[in-house]
Amino acid sequence: MHAPVLAAVAGWALALGTTAACADAAASPDNAARGAALVANRNQGLCVLCHAVPGVAAPLHGSLAPDLAGVGARLSTAQLRERLTAPERFNPDSLMPSYRRSEGLTRVAAQRQGQPLFSEAQLDDVVAYLATLR
Ligand code: HEC
Repeated sequence: MHAPVLAAVAGWALALGTTAACADAAASPDNAARGAALVANRNQGLCVLCHAVPGVAAPLHGSLAPDLAGVGARLSTAQLRERLTAPERFNPDSLMPSYRRSEGLTRVAAQRQGQPLFSEAQLDDVVAYLATLR
């Protein structure tokens, strides 16, 4: 995605803020499909840097973090979302980045300043996908 598009998406996400619908009821197979693509994407989500993910070829994923197989059965959608937005609540020294935080970070590339890794809509999509991993 080009920087102006990313900036527009991030601006939109920030405008929605934390009042964005958590969208359990609205989660559809489309959400989950988009979430699956984000999780496997090695330029944006980069979850596979650390996690094994069902359906992603083994040589391509890391082993620093728990295998995400079955995570949808272990955690509720609210818990999954919190893992993505505030991983430090579960482990203050977590290696996992917050996919929502955009402040208090250091050494952020100029074109990414002030932008979260995921928009609220992308968080919804990734949570919808993780919830299918049972
Ligand atoms: C830099 C490494 C790293 C990246 C990138 C990363 N994680 Fe994590 N994640 C971890 C670690 C380590 C844990 C284990 C708990 C802890 O120490 O924070 C974890 C825990 C989790 C958990 C809880 C798992 C459980 O069984 O309790 C979920 C869900 C999760 N990550 C999802 C994701 C998703 C989805 C992405 C991509 C959008 C992602 N993570 C990206 C390192 C990472």
